[in-house]
Amino acid sequence: MTAAELVTITKPDDWHLHLRDEIALKTTVPATSRVFGRAIVMPNLKPPVTSVKMALNYRSRILEHKTPDSSFNPLMTLFLTDNLDPKEIVSLSNEESVVAVKYYPAGATTNSDTGVTNIKNVYRIIEKMAELGVPLLLHGEVTENHIDIFDREKVFIETILAPLIERYPDLKVILEHITTKDSVEFIESQSSRVAGTITIHHLLYNRNDMLVGGIKPHLYCLPVLKRNIHQTSLIRAALGGNPKFFLGTDSAPHARLEKETSCGCAGVFSAPAAIELYAQFFADHNSLSKLEGFASFFGADFYGQPRNKEKITLEFKPWRMPQQYQLGDVPTVPIMAGEAINWQLKDSSEK
Ligand code: DOR
Ligand code: ZN
Repeated sequence: MTAAELVTITKPDDWHLHLRDEIALKTTVPATSRVFGRAIVMPNLKPPVTSVKMALNYRSRILEHKTPDSSFNPLMTLFLTDNLDPKEIVSLSNEESVVAVKYYPAGATTNSDTGVTNIKNVYRIIEKMAELGVPLLLHGEVTENHIDIFDREKVFIETILAPLIERYPDLKVILEHITTKDSVEFIESQSSRVAGTITIHHLLYNRNDMLVGGIKPHLYCLPVLKRNIHQTSLIRAALGGNPKFFLGTDSAPHARLEKETSCGCAGVFSAPAAIELYAQFFADHNSLSKLEGFASFFGADFYGQPRNKEKITLEFKPWRMPQQYQLGDVPTVPIMAGEAINWQLKDSSEK
């Protein structure tokens, strides 16, 4: 086997993940814990995770389902609301496994109705976070009706993010699942306390993939896929070895019937092939040597976490993604359902 058909990297982490809850955890947790050392777990449950106590309880439910001999460490987040008590930030900062706060503009996406209605309403909370070094994770889209859906990320940067960064010079900020050239350039222009995560679906697809020849509901996510010049910019950012950009899958499963309907919900379930597809993406761009920094180093460094010690090996060995997974008894369609994926975990008994 030639070197190009095999790649060994430090165990990666997923810095943006939706695991959902209850019986879904039986499928979602092993899909991630089979290969990732840590994951930043999103708090947009129903009801959302708004206290450290809720986050720790959720974490225990997650740990019940991890792959038996894995050292998977779910890192929890709190859902920011207008009324979050700043005392929660203090108790979070004393808790190793609750590490960040997630800002959803109210109504921006799945289960975000009780998100922030106006940034000014959370200044006192953000101030505490800046003081205690707690990172703010952003769903970076405005929600005003008159703003075109394809412009919502750019307008968010101009009207919310840039002023926020200026107001809190010590605040650590991660613009999550970035989708535009504007985000790439903005993050590049900032100091090292501003970073961005990039999903595999925003690297592999643009809006033509979702819309030409019929709507593909399983590619519908938020922020929505953009035109190809934006995809090209994201690709450049991911491959470029800049530590401000790192892996966050935003794997976000929804029932098949809630995607294939007249008003389908947003989310791509990518966990079952996440690291395999990132490997494929880096290999296809002749950049496998850049995978490890992006997947295993830069996120840990940004969060101030130790890099993982274990290694994983991926090999070029095509396999076919199943048409669907069962989350409990709910059929759920994964990314690239039924399609061939070129890379797989070596000696993995999962799948
Ligand atoms: O596509 C998305 N799905 N984007 C989000 O921001 C939320 C996520 C979900 O929870 O389904
Ligand atoms: Zn998300």
